Amino acid sequence: MVFAAKKADVPNFGKKLVSVNGQEILLINLKGEIYACENECPHQGSPLVAGVVKDGPTLSCPRHGYKFNLKTGACLDFPEYTLKVYPVRLEGDDILVELG
Ligand code: FES
Repeated sequence: MVFAAKKADVPNFGKKLVSVNGQEILLINLKGEIYACENECPHQGSPLVAGVVKDGPTLSCPRHGYKFNLKTGACLDFPEYTLKVYPVRLEGDDILVELG
């Protein structure tokens, strides 16, 4: 696992785009739970940093509104699309991600 950011840098219901080992990773804080995923929508590549986060937990793409489950990456609207999600671990205030 590699360090991605400090938890304090990702506000509740907020997002933070970081670069980890040259890869863009989108971090999301939903009520203290941290999720990590790719920033590029698997549909047509829209940046998901502008997406809407809701309980579920889901992230909706700002372009066509496809919703993705932040735990599994599954698209709730069109199952042929899958968002790449990364395992997250918290160590104190450090957010670590597994890039695989
Ligand atoms: S580009 Fe994301 S839903 Fe179409």
